[in-house]
Amino acid sequence: MEIIIVSIPFLLLSLFISLLPLILFLTRNKSESSINGLKFPPGKMGWPILGESLEFLNNGRRGVPEKFINDRTEKFGSEVFKTSLIGESMVVLCGPAGNKFLFSNENKLVTVWFPSSVNKIFPFSLESSANEESKKMRKMLPAFLKPEPLQKYIPTMDSIAKKHLKEHWDDKKEVLAFTQAKAYTMSIACKVFMSIEDPVQLAKFADPFALLAAGILCIPIDLPGTAMNKAGKASNIIRKDILEIIRQRKLDLAENKASPKKDILSHMLLTTFEDEQPMEERDIADKILGLIVGGHDTASTALTFVVKYLAKFPHIYNEVLKEQMEILKSKKEGELLNWEDIKKMRYSRNVACEVMRITPPSQGAFREAITDFTYAGFSIPKGWKIFWSTNSTHKNAKYFPEPENFDPSRFEGKGPAPYTFVPFGGGPRMCPGIDYAWLEMLVFIHNLVTKFRWEEVLPNEKTIFVPLAVPEKGLPIRLQAHSVNLEK
Ligand code: HEM
Repeated sequence: MEIIIVSIPFLLLSLFISLLPLILFLTRNKSESSINGLKFPPGKMGWPILGESLEFLNNGRRGVPEKFINDRTEKFGSEVFKTSLIGESMVVLCGPAGNKFLFSNENKLVTVWFPSSVNKIFPFSLESSANEESKKMRKMLPAFLKPEPLQKYIPTMDSIAKKHLKEHWDDKKEVLAFTQAKAYTMSIACKVFMSIEDPVQLAKFADPFALLAAGILCIPIDLPGTAMNKAGKASNIIRKDILEIIRQRKLDLAENKASPKKDILSHMLLTTFEDEQPMEERDIADKILGLIVGGHDTASTALTFVVKYLAKFPHIYNEVLKEQMEILKSKKEGELLNWEDIKKMRYSRNVACEVMRITPPSQGAFREAITDFTYAGFSIPKGWKIFWSTNSTHKNAKYFPEPENFDPSRFEGKGPAPYTFVPFGGGPRMCPGIDYAWLEMLVFIHNLVTKFRWEEVLPNEKTIFVPLAVPEKGLPIRLQAHSVNLEK
């Protein structure tokens, strides 16, 4: 009897604990369907903490990231719905109207927002935040990342592409396109941002950057072994190396051994802000890290899928080859690519656009409501996070008929309707690396097609989104170098 009496509170407690998620789930959905009579967008908040993150991430892993959005827009009959992702109440705005609204209301109704995993990777000082630091970054970047200043890097990118192909592709029967595309974009970033060319240092960065990228958009649980935890550790490893490079550069600048215009690192060290102070070494390290993270995986993903689609569609490959051969033939022996050449790569650019439409490297980005506002008749409370998604338009037959068909001619003439093709976002927060990305992609395409044809080793290889698009097996391809006749 005594045992039963002692056990009852224990049993009740166990029952309560086991039902807690359900209780929270039910109360949460109820409390968030309407507050003070305001109508929130339709949708479900899912499980506590997890929300609907698992479904979002699983659809990506299964290769159908658009399913998360399509299921809900169909179910609720609305291009705006609420959910809970990566630990946050979230509204997803779909279609060109949603994109336009978010891109044109930056700092009026919404501001850019970064998931808590980003704060783990870039642990800002108490006085700052990811948003503040991103504002500083955007102030500095035009001096480097606008088309004019970038043009001088075209020959540098070209010689890096040539060296990369010579070292990693020539004389090989097979390569892993994804690994090689990453190595190429990393070489360019390290050279253009920090003047680093040492292959040992480049190889040292590869693994921690992969962990870091995997932790940017993940479930915010920071325990040993989780993606968030691994990304935090990886960022510390890379930051340590970058800090050493910064300290050496400071010495070199002080002794006039390095030019103030040498690269983006020198520029950051010499830029001052409102308080007339240069940035702290650690802030600079984080900015460089942010640029590499923002640019490295996205551009290498785009290039990987260019390789994939050119293997799948030989007639499109032939058109790209024709365009690039014209350019190659117009060059003198050993002359590197320049801006005039890049402008001639119209068809190759359309192909890369179609690749980024059908397999957008980035699935979208987040904003935060900075005030209560209404959108499409629904209230969006201050503090809620908002997600815009490339897939909501890229994969929608309304804006891209037969969206699964690979067709670069969609980008001819006027091209897609405004706010439908958004791989780089739009408005004031549009990706600041867009012009740099185009240069490094077109330079690579030029060098690759003028040297090789290739075919997929695994024609049915799956594409997964984790959250960036990745070929499941790294896209192994069989290479065939062009005969000497084709080359100059
Ligand atoms: C194909 C390549 C690329 C794609 C598809 C891409 C896409 C994007 C997207 C969708 C965003 C979010 C925009 C938004 O918040 O609305 C973004 C932000 C950003 N990207 Fe890119 N990007 C690429 C390459 C690059 C490169 C090469 C760099 C650096 C050189 C870069 C640096 C950044 C940075 C720093 C941000 C954050 C900007 C901010 O804080 O406002 N990206 N990118």
